[in-house]
Amino acid sequence: MARYDLTPVEVPPVRTRYRRIRTRLPVPESLPIFESLRDSEPQSMMGQPPIVWDRAEGFQVRDRWGNCWIDWSSGVLIANAGHGRREIRRALQEVLRKPLLTAYVFVHEGRAELTRALQALSPDPKDYQVFLLSTGSEAIENAIKLARTYALERHGQNKKYLVSFHNAFHGRTMGSQLAGGMAAQKRWILDEGKSFVQVPFPDGFKNEDTSFELFLSSLKKHRVKPKDIAGVLTESYQGVGPDFLPEDYACRLESFCREHDIVLIFDEVQAGFGRTGTMFGYEQYGVSPDLIVCGKGISSSLPLSAVIGRKAIMGLYPPGSMTSTHSASPLPVVAALESLKIIRREGLVAHARLMGEILVAELQRIQRRHPQALGCVHGRGLVAGVQVVRPGSKTPDPETAQRINEACFRQGLLMFAPVGVAGECLKISPPLVIPEEALRESIAVFEAACVQVLG
Ligand SMILES: Cc1ncc(COP(=O)(O)O)c(C=O)c1O
Repeated sequence: MARYDLTPVEVPPVRTRYRRIRTRLPVPESLPIFESLRDSEPQSMMGQPPIVWDRAEGFQVRDRWGNCWIDWSSGVLIANAGHGRREIRRALQEVLRKPLLTAYVFVHEGRAELTRALQALSPDPKDYQVFLLSTGSEAIENAIKLARTYALERHGQNKKYLVSFHNAFHGRTMGSQLAGGMAAQKRWILDEGKSFVQVPFPDGFKNEDTSFELFLSSLKKHRVKPKDIAGVLTESYQGVGPDFLPEDYACRLESFCREHDIVLIFDEVQAGFGRTGTMFGYEQYGVSPDLIVCGKGISSSLPLSAVIGRKAIMGLYPPGSMTSTHSASPLPVVAALESLKIIRREGLVAHARLMGEILVAELQRIQRRHPQALGCVHGRGLVAGVQVVRPGSKTPDPETAQRINEACFRQGLLMFAPVGVAGECLKISPPLVIPEEALRESIAVFEAACVQVLG
């Protein structure tokens, strides 16, 4: 995927209300840090634009040398309530002062408060419970395990298939990659087993057939009978697009799962906590998943994840047998509580929806200026993506995507490296606190970068 040149280049200085670039980039003084990491870390960790983060607040990221970027990454869709929020820092300081740095699964009050708060966000608080973990992948693994345990206990061992989608991303651990839909990422597994099956995702661009009939015929092709499916897992939107399910497809998927007592799992690790203009992405479709997997934006900061699910499924394991060392770790828990309060108090879900209308309309306008190279624009709320293609085709063009990404970086607009099946997708996901003026300024930077690279 993306490799960034570490040779410093002269860039025109930038000084606006929201951005500041005053050095060569990458900053020459930062190079020893990159060189040291090149020795001490695997190269897999070196795939992002060459900035050394020093401070991040609200929707801005700063380095130590006086440069400041508008952030279109939110880390990687983490900082929904904004980076470095004072309320979160204050709550963390209180826990530090006690001190209470860890508790395993002994009870602490924050855990009771947070599980209640998340339960209240579920489709039916009386019928859902919350299990706290640390990472998105860990929560995905847990959801797969719960779905298969439920199927095994209720229906016996033939009901074992986990159906997910091509191009899906659910994490990098073994179970999450078995459920993932990118062949190149799971070559290392060698023997995939036979109970994980992927079918085409109805994104409308990479796969133009968005009918639910394709789901059914794909299962037939895999010789999988509906009665033998334990769980269906989908991202609420696929990160590679972002690609959303057609509403009708999502509703038919839900009915299909109900009909065959299949556990319906929505991966909200990216989509949750206001990102798409609703608290959860699944709300866009009017469905009620049985298991909802959360991570990233749940705390806007420290590592925390959760599975929110129906009691009949969540209660399958007896006391002490479904836990993790850092389940409900006290610091991430208070960070999540404060983040949720901020999202609610500041109306960030509605703000994301409103800003999304501006963002998507503007990206579509920019796409119309470059119809040969910008193949597809998808977005909802404050997540959007522009897929860069070879002229007039649907063939991904990762090199051009990276050049646009770098041109933005040099003008004080920070995106993470392009994503997508081949690294062709410029993904836009600012913290939900970004004000309209800064959003418009950043869109103007993006447009100028497209003109600079595409002509
Ligand atoms: C949709 C989705 N699911 C799961 C994960 C895995 O989360 P983590 O990296 O916290 O393990 C990610 C991470 O990017 C994701 O985007």
